[in-house]
Amino acid sequence: MIFAMAGSAIGLGNIWRFPFIVGEHGGAAFVLIYILATLLISLPVFLAEVTVGRRARTSSYGAMSSLSPGKSIWKFAGILSVAIPLIIDSYYSVIGGWSLDFLLKSVTLQFVKSNPQEVTSIFGNFITSTWSPIILHLVFLGACAFIVANGIKAGIEKFSKYTIPVLFVLIVLLIYYSVSLPGASQGVKYLLKPDFSQVNARSFAYAVGQSFYSLSLGMGAIITYGSYVKKEENLMVASAGTAVSDLMFAMLAGLAIMPAVFAAGIEPGAGPGLIFQSVPFVFSTMSASHPAIGAAVSIIFFLTIVVAAMTSCISLLEVGVSFLKDRYGVSRIKGSIILFLICGAAGVLCSLSFGPLKGLTLWGMNIFDIFDWLSSNILLLVMALLTVVFTGFVLKKEDVWDEITNGGTKKFNAAIFNVVYFLIKWVTPVAIVIIFITNFIF
Ligand code: PHE
Repeated sequence: MIFAMAGSAIGLGNIWRFPFIVGEHGGAAFVLIYILATLLISLPVFLAEVTVGRRARTSSYGAMSSLSPGKSIWKFAGILSVAIPLIIDSYYSVIGGWSLDFLLKSVTLQFVKSNPQEVTSIFGNFITSTWSPIILHLVFLGACAFIVANGIKAGIEKFSKYTIPVLFVLIVLLIYYSVSLPGASQGVKYLLKPDFSQVNARSFAYAVGQSFYSLSLGMGAIITYGSYVKKEENLMVASAGTAVSDLMFAMLAGLAIMPAVFAAGIEPGAGPGLIFQSVPFVFSTMSASHPAIGAAVSIIFFLTIVVAAMTSCISLLEVGVSFLKDRYGVSRIKGSIILFLICGAAGVLCSLSFGPLKGLTLWGMNIFDIFDWLSSNILLLVMALLTVVFTGFVLKKEDVWDEITNGGTKKFNAAIFNVVYFLIKWVTPVAIVIIFITNFIF
């Protein structure tokens, strides 16, 4: 069960989003906050989500309202859990398109042929162009929608079982290589030596948002997952195992990317393009001495990224399609087309916000940033808050006890139940509210 859950949690959130968010928030001090946020806030939220899911035995849309019928706030939570994945999918598929482009560039040996100085500018040229990113975003989203429409996601999920371990091996290989680049030690220091002057109130909201994002929390995914979990499974072990492996994967990705960022002379706060600038630099340097290895590693790397992005995009689309099917009787095919059109159009705007629509900003954020910020820093927090409040105040304590200790049979869980329950009921909601508010004030 840990493997299955970790497989769904580990993805672009760890390898693409974590490094650039760390880079935008000053490095090691942020990493420290992130680790604390994962253990003290995300872990209780995770446990609350699987508990609600296993109790309700339905997907996230109806989970809370079925356990507490008649209250419209829990219906609202259900609607949020459908809306958030769609907002995320709109820009997630743009990143999917970028990954696809970099896979094609790897296959046509562009990183091998360019020298390391030129290779970092390939991304900038690509992203500011109008058509290629849009076309690739639509191709990527279209492929995912096609898979969802045909109900063949089991196929790609089987495939993805192999890609996560492959990605893990490649990351370790990249760490080895990128740490040995000249100038890389500064990147290692950046990631491990905290400078607290870089931290402000917003860092906390970003750390919690990133942690939720990476663990697929606050978007109904884990509630739905929980509904499939067998009665005899140990929810606490599964939650802790998933959180720790996701955290480790993020740290490894950071260790692979940051040294390369410094070695290549890229600004750590360069934003969403960070891995698309730094990783090709590593492959290009590698290719100077070993072209065949450089070419092979870059193809496998971007292929695994594309597959990881596809599995996430598919599971995010799946939420909307099953909602349309259950609620309005829309067929899978029609549902997939509707979602393709909505997310496709929204994604086009996100994609254009790096080029022609660059100037269109609100509070210094372009359209892409707004989608990402709105979902990760606002809506995920609201949804997670509703879930912990529901678990702490609506579900009966005996029922939560029953789920978390499997009817008292898991002795360790029973021994620490009161602490965990206190975290879920009091610490997590209060922390989320404080973080949420200070994020706006300071
Ligand atoms: N948690 C995933 C990641 O880190 C993203 C994701 C969210 C995947 C929701 C599936 C569902 O990339």
